[in-house]
Amino acid sequence: MNLENLKAEAARCAVRFVKSGMRVGLGTGSTARYAILEIARKIKAGELENITGVATSLASERLARENGITVEDLDARALDLAIDGADEIAPNLDLIKGAGAALLREKLVEIQAKELIVVADYTKMVRLLGEKAALPVEIVRFGFESTINRLKKFGEPVLRQKNGEPFVTDNGNYIADLRFSTDDAPTLALELKRLAGVVETGFFIGMATRAIVAFETEVKELIR
Ligand code: A5P
Repeated sequence: MNLENLKAEAARCAVRFVKSGMRVGLGTGSTARYAILEIARKIKAGELENITGVATSLASERLARENGITVEDLDARALDLAIDGADEIAPNLDLIKGAGAALLREKLVEIQAKELIVVADYTKMVRLLGEKAALPVEIVRFGFESTINRLKKFGEPVLRQKNGEPFVTDNGNYIADLRFSTDDAPTLALELKRLAGVVETGFFIGMATRAIVAFETEVKELIR
């Protein structure tokens, strides 16, 4: 089975947890996309009703609306559930997210969810965070070069670019992708958040409650 099929299968399994009447956080990325499409399919088929989505990016908001899901802005209310992908999943379900640059809105939405289900293919499972992926760090544009210099204390940061220009997030900020090595991601997460110019990092520590990971032969459900 190719990776696309595995992503779709993990997403479909996660959508089993969505029940009528729920407010659902809609993730961002190629795996979360399948979850949004499956929720939309179930609404059209009459299998789900009265669903409200809260999107983690402009792209996911557009996709959800185009497919008939009602989308509302994030407010102070809790969400029943959020479903999203990840770049890396540690055995304790701590995550690196943000390769798709949506980490800030993902964190703001998902921190308000009673349950965060991560959906992925098996290539996202790691022993230690940082094994494969760089850590996306959202930084303000003002003085970004000096913020990147401060990040060098923790690893090798690279300013994300698109068509030769700095990549701009939905929030008008830049992203530095930080290669790092640590066996203490929670401490690194706190240290990075303390740096002037850092808005948010792609560490999602203690947030995911469940991971649904598709392997070639089976779909595994991991619970924190
Ligand atoms: C978006 O910013 C990310 O956090 C994605 O959720 C993450 O990069 C996983 O994306 P894929 O499902 O496309 O690998």
